[in-house]
Amino acid sequence: MAIHSTKKLAKPPSRTISSESLDQTLENNDTTLRPKSLEDYIGQQEIKKNLAVFMQASKNRSEPLEHVLLHGSPGLGKTTLANIIANEMKTNIRITSGPIMERQGDIAALITNLEPGDILFIDEIHRLKPIIEETLYSVMEDFALDIILGKGPSAKSIRLNLPKFTLIGATTKLSLISSPLRDRFGHTFRLDFYQQNEMEKIIERSAKLLEISIEKEAVKKLAYSSRQTPRIANRLLRRMRDFASVEGLNHLNLSLIEKGLTHLGIDEQGLDGTDRTILRLIIENFRGGPVGLSTLSAATHEEGQTLEDIYEPFLLQKGFLERTPRGRMVTQKGYHHLGLIPPPQDKTQSLLF
Ligand code: ADE
Repeated sequence: MAIHSTKKLAKPPSRTISSESLDQTLENNDTTLRPKSLEDYIGQQEIKKNLAVFMQASKNRSEPLEHVLLHGSPGLGKTTLANIIANEMKTNIRITSGPIMERQGDIAALITNLEPGDILFIDEIHRLKPIIEETLYSVMEDFALDIILGKGPSAKSIRLNLPKFTLIGATTKLSLISSPLRDRFGHTFRLDFYQQNEMEKIIERSAKLLEISIEKEAVKKLAYSSRQTPRIANRLLRRMRDFASVEGLNHLNLSLIEKGLTHLGIDEQGLDGTDRTILRLIIENFRGGPVGLSTLSAATHEEGQTLEDIYEPFLLQKGFLERTPRGRMVTQKGYHHLGLIPPPQDKTQSLLF
């Protein structure tokens, strides 16, 4: 029996959060620094240009934007972009995340409470349980929710029609999104690491919002130490403001930034203590590598996921680490950065890869 209805189920489970309550749970001040419009969003030029066109076209047709998949490393602004889309489309946004939804009922209660045109933001969408992912297929494609009632021969399937809405999924791991799910997104955008000049603009903008003056050389230094990631830049800026405040200063200069970064264990290349521990461990315990991720995870007491998502991309991009088919290896540059002498290069090994 198919029931066509837009009737709502129970209220969304408490494990889902509105954007305002999520904002309150985020680190203090983070939301004040987040841009609210595409115009204020620095960097990711291609995404901004495309999004502006697609949002305008949707508005012209009075239709919601097609589903959007955002992927990229943590801290690059996926959640910020989702909130900007909601602002620009003048719609509500409901925020949830893949791992907190356990049963079909969790997603059902959430989507049946959406208003037409609303945005549902699912963070870490690669961590959805299979039952929930499968439920999403018809939801995304037909705006219909198929629910099985009962078990065995007397089980019945009912179909609820839903209002048209936009699903925005965010992931740090595009490769873990199955193709049936990926194919149901009308737009897929990859957020890149930010350029030095973009990081400088972000820091200058944030300093203005935090009402603290910062000299150009200090901006450059902070930008260089922020792993090309706005979330890190904003966090470091707030810590520098703390250092300045206890010294009774309302101005950030280069010497204060240098002292502050040293206190936080961040070196001149922007590596923190964990980055250096990882390199040192590979060198000391595994003769520079190759070493597999799980071994490295056990040795460093960091989760494999954290190593892969947070530390590895930065070390690879800095040229201190390389990935070979047999595992991670510290490069000559990595040895030099730690003040160590690299072993002579094995020509046969480098020919192999
Ligand atoms: N704060 C965090 N990300 C930002 C961005 N891309 N532009 C401006 N401010 C930001």
